[in-house]
Amino acid sequence: MKTYQMLVDGAWVAAESGRTLAVMNPATGEVMARVPEAAAADVDKAARAARRAFDEGWRDVTAQERGRILFRLAEQVRKDVKALAELETLNSGKPLVESEYDINDVATCFEYYGGLATKLHGEVLNVPDNAVSLALREPLGVAGQIIPWNYPLLMAAWKIAPALCAGCTVVLKPAEATPATAIALARILDAVSDLPKGVVNIITGDGPTVGAPLVAHPAVDKIAFTGSVEVGKRIMRSAADTLKKVSLELGGKSPNIFFADADFESAVDGALFGVFVNQGEVCSAGSRVLIQRPIYKKMLDAMVEKAKRIKLGSGMDPATKMGPLVSKEQMERVMRYQEIGRKEAKVASGGGRPREPELQKGYFVEPTIFYDVDNSATIAREEIFGPVMSVIPFDDEKDAIRIANDTPFGLAAAVWSRDIFKVFRVVRRLQAGIVWVNHMQPTYVEAPWGGYKMSGIGRELGPWGAEEYLQVKQVHVNLNEAPIAWY
Ligand code: NAI
Ligand code: MG
Repeated sequence: MKTYQMLVDGAWVAAESGRTLAVMNPATGEVMARVPEAAAADVDKAARAARRAFDEGWRDVTAQERGRILFRLAEQVRKDVKALAELETLNSGKPLVESEYDINDVATCFEYYGGLATKLHGEVLNVPDNAVSLALREPLGVAGQIIPWNYPLLMAAWKIAPALCAGCTVVLKPAEATPATAIALARILDAVSDLPKGVVNIITGDGPTVGAPLVAHPAVDKIAFTGSVEVGKRIMRSAADTLKKVSLELGGKSPNIFFADADFESAVDGALFGVFVNQGEVCSAGSRVLIQRPIYKKMLDAMVEKAKRIKLGSGMDPATKMGPLVSKEQMERVMRYQEIGRKEAKVASGGGRPREPELQKGYFVEPTIFYDVDNSATIAREEIFGPVMSVIPFDDEKDAIRIANDTPFGLAAAVWSRDIFKVFRVVRRLQAGIVWVNHMQPTYVEAPWGGYKMSGIGRELGPWGAEEYLQVKQVHVNLNEAPIAWY
């Protein structure tokens, strides 16, 4: 079995302690590799390396050169799509077609930020004096980046690409469950991109022993995090001590709203796709399905009919539509919510683990539909992060908006209707950072990604994503040749 090393200051290293962590294949419950189990001493090395790389050179590399490096990365990722996708599926469980989609998106993300690098610029301000007033945009410095396990390589790209585009250096920690493709990316970074050493450091280990010291480290200027609200809050508190900038993407309990005049077939598929894609391990999952009463029963029946045919299996099997959950821990968490759900609402479909003998060793959970769910129920309020849909009926537009917004979260929402006037009335009222109309989940690197309310702080992707890694410097150039003549 392979024991990988991690990339710190341009060198492939083990953890200083020599300890390693097991990387699992969630479809079989078997160990597929081992990675270094880093700790504070390794974080310190990586953070100092990133600091040095920034101070001693990276900050002066031209935007054109940074862009070219990102293009080279994109090119190599595109060449390696198949191998990277297989590795992603083996480690995360997701169906191979979804991994291929993700890895292509990774390349697109590097391309986008490669192009954007030369388009970031400051401004000349119209001040009332004989002077030139400038607002320069400069890189923040060292970015600590902590990512989750649901889109392992894509989340790494969403973090690394805008940081390099803006001129920052990076220490990235993948989730402990899914480090495989991040290490593969480190190898690409090391081999093809001519990145000076220390510009990107990738260290493996868990949250408390690697993530926490990274957040606390004085050489790190900014933390970008995607994950749970609980850890997001902890990061913000800890970052206060060194006054780091933080951006947080924290998931949600997103409403997927179906009016009676929606196209029926699209609605059924859109509701299922909204919450069952990627096994429901999606921050923007449409886990609350709000259906207007005239179509409530008919749509529920149609969803159940289709949900029963969703094929569970290894992500490597091309027939698979839903893979295992990422870890035993996550499977158990989802099973606990299903138990709660059975007491709070009615089960229309699924509700447990599949019975097929070949699925017993992996972390599989059936696609589950609860109906007649009250919006105050635990399964309507808390993020489950698994294939669990809570179906909630509503009467009219006002009712739909009230239920949709009655949540501490505000990441995403979707509205389905043929009435453009109604759609826009609802869109304007929804408290969410992302709103889809007659679809749910398409995501583009060109468009901003992030949440209202407790779903986070800041925006990823597009120019907004690069902005999170920049700071503004005001420069005033006096053009009056005479002395100030004040004293
Ligand atoms: P988590 O928030 O604990 O893990 C996300 C990342 O944060 C991982 O890399 C982890 O190692 C790191 N981390 C954990 N504790 C940390 C700490 N004290 N300081 C710094 N970094 C730390 O998420 P977990 O436990 O894997 O999943 C729990 C729940 O979180 C899920 O059921 C889901 O509801 C939510 N979640 C949301 C995600 C999103 O995309 N918004 C992604 C993953 C989980
Ligand atoms: Mg956790």
